[in-house]
Amino acid sequence: MDTRYFNAVKQPEAGTKLGGSVIRSGGLVAFPTETVYGLGANGLDGEAVNKIFEAKGRPNDNPLILHIAKKSDLKDLWKSVPERARLLMDEFWPGPLTMVYLKSSRVPEEVTGGLDTVAVRMPIRAAGVPIAAPSANLSGKPSPTTADHVKADMDGRIDVIIDGGPCNIGVESTVVSLMGGAVTILRPGGITREMLEAVIGPVNLSPAVLAPLKQGEAAASPGMKYKHYAPDAQVIVGTGSLPDMAAKLIAEYDRREAEGLTCIIFATEETRCFYRGKRYVIIGERKNPLTLCESLFAQFRAQEGKADVILCEALPETDMGLAYMNRLLRSAGFKTI
Ligand code: TXA
Ligand code: MG
Repeated sequence: MDTRYFNAVKQPEAGTKLGGSVIRSGGLVAFPTETVYGLGANGLDGEAVNKIFEAKGRPNDNPLILHIAKKSDLKDLWKSVPERARLLMDEFWPGPLTMVYLKSSRVPEEVTGGLDTVAVRMPIRAAGVPIAAPSANLSGKPSPTTADHVKADMDGRIDVIIDGGPCNIGVESTVVSLMGGAVTILRPGGITREMLEAVIGPVNLSPAVLAPLKQGEAAASPGMKYKHYAPDAQVIVGTGSLPDMAAKLIAEYDRREAEGLTCIIFATEETRCFYRGKRYVIIGERKNPLTLCESLFAQFRAQEGKADVILCEALPETDMGLAYMNRLLRSAGFKTI
């Protein structure tokens, strides 16, 4: 398949129009959102949705998020709209919040992997039909935050790539489940736990956000079962407080280099002074974890073929630090030192 490339930086409306028409005719379109690039198909057309799983090499039981253009589209996709959903969407849509609730009969089972719930979000940029879209990477790879990342994974596998420039949050949307009368974070993201709690009070955190699933434990979100966000290199997370954490990373660096491996440290503005004489790259500021989220996946991709081991710093698991630690720990297969 020849993949068409459209530069929508200067012509966002033409990009949306092209994407919409290809999606309505059953094709696959990669498009930018405020979080990461998505790979979209008509979410009401099971056959089109199947092509997404094929292009990504994604397991069929890992369900997709439906992306809508206006809040009123939600009632057609869910059995009913609970009050807490109304409160959350009034505050956070359009934006990086995905909500999971009982699906209506209009939603094809291809979208939900056979579950009786469906995930819905309203991104800042949207098209006409509900668009089923996972992140536009090959399954298991870091999510793409630029059109070049999409091209690297998807060229020849999809119809169109719409380039809208780099995404600004850099990690995928917050996913919450509204089942069981509660609000439970399944995946942390740009809408933080603190922001949610300011609107609706206490919010649960699924244990799988920061720890591996135990043997035989059911996944609240099927995505938690699979290895995720993995760069080619081994990722290791240094924990504890500074400067001990930096000392542990340096000791690990020296040990691995002595074994003949190439190491790099993902440092921050605040910690660069610790790593003099080592190979490091500054990926953001500890005091502003959003800057680290924005660049993490792009920095992983930039190390492809260059580093065998990537040494990273843990952050406090508050505000955007929670989303950062969730992605980092999963990339590391939960390997901490
Ligand atoms: O920011 C985002 O959310 C991006 C952009 C493209 O919108 N999309 C994205 O989709 O990250 P994906 O497919 O890579 O991740 C969706 C996550 C998966 O972990 C999936 O298992 C979970 O949401 N999910 C989807 N439907 C679900 C459901 N009904 N119940 C529980 N988890 C669900
Ligand atoms: Mg993904």
